[in-house]
Amino acid sequence: MRSLLLVVGAIVLLTSMGGAMAAASGELKDIDVDQSNEARQRGAEIVMSTCMLCHSLKYVKFMDLSDIGMDKEQILDMLDDQKIEDRMMSLTPIEVREESYGKLPPDLSLMAIARKKGPDYIYTLLTDYYYREDGETDNHLFPGIKMPDALAYADAETDADLADVEAQASDVVSFLVWTADPNADERKRLGVYVIIYLIILTVLLYLVKKRVWRQVH
Ligand code: HEC
Repeated sequence: MRSLLLVVGAIVLLTSMGGAMAAASGELKDIDVDQSNEARQRGAEIVMSTCMLCHSLKYVKFMDLSDIGMDKEQILDMLDDQKIEDRMMSLTPIEVREESYGKLPPDLSLMAIARKKGPDYIYTLLTDYYYREDGETDNHLFPGIKMPDALAYADAETDADLADVEAQASDVVSFLVWTADPNADERKRLGVYVIIYLIILTVLLYLVKKRVWRQVH
C-alpha cells in the first residue's frame, strides 16, 4: 500500500512538473479548434485566396471540400484554371515561390500534425507578427521567418481589426486540422456506435450469466 502511494505521488509530481515546464517554454496561444463545417469552409476560402498564393496542400483535392459541406458549384466558383479533381496546388510556379522568399513555402496539408501542438502553433504564428523598428515585419514565435504577415495582423489598428484577423486565423486552423485528418469525424461517429454496441453486449452477457448461474444453484 505504501509503495503504491509512493508511485502515485511520483506520477502526480512528474505530470505537474511537465505542465509547468511546458508553460515556461511555450508562448503558444491556446485555442479551442472550432470543428464545425462552417468554420472549416470559411478557413478553406481564406487558405485558397491567401495562403495558396505561396503554399500547396498536395494531399487534398478540391472535390474533397464536399466532405466539409461545400457543394460542387461553390467549389467551382473558387477555382481559376484548375479542375475539381485536381490536388490543391499553388498556381504560383515553384521556382518563383522559392526565389521570392529564399525558401520553398512548406506544404500545408499535414501542417496541423507536423508541428508540436499544431493548431496552437499555426494560430500563434499567424497572430504574432509585429513591426520592428526598421519598419519590417517580424514574428515573435518564429523570429526571422521568411513568410510575410499573410493576414496583416501587424497592421490591425482597432480592436475590431484584431478580432477579425484572430477569427480568420482560427478559421484557417479549423480547416488545416481537417486537412491533416479528414477522417476524424467518421472515426468519432464509428466510435460512438462501437461503445453503444459494447454496452448492449455487456448487458446481454450479464443477463445470460445470471440465468446460467440460477440453473446451477
Ligand atoms: C507570400 C507567400 C506566403 C503566403 C501568402 C503565406 N505563406 Fe506561409 N510560408 C511562406 C514561406 C516562405 C514560409 C517558410 C518560412 C521560413 O521557413 O522562414 C512559410 C511557412 C509557413 C508555415 C510553417 C512555419 C514553420 O514552422 O516552419 C506555416 C504554418 C504557414 N506558412 C502557414 C501559412 C498560412 C496558414 C497562410 C495563409 C493564411 C500562409 N502561410 C500564407 C510563405 C507564405
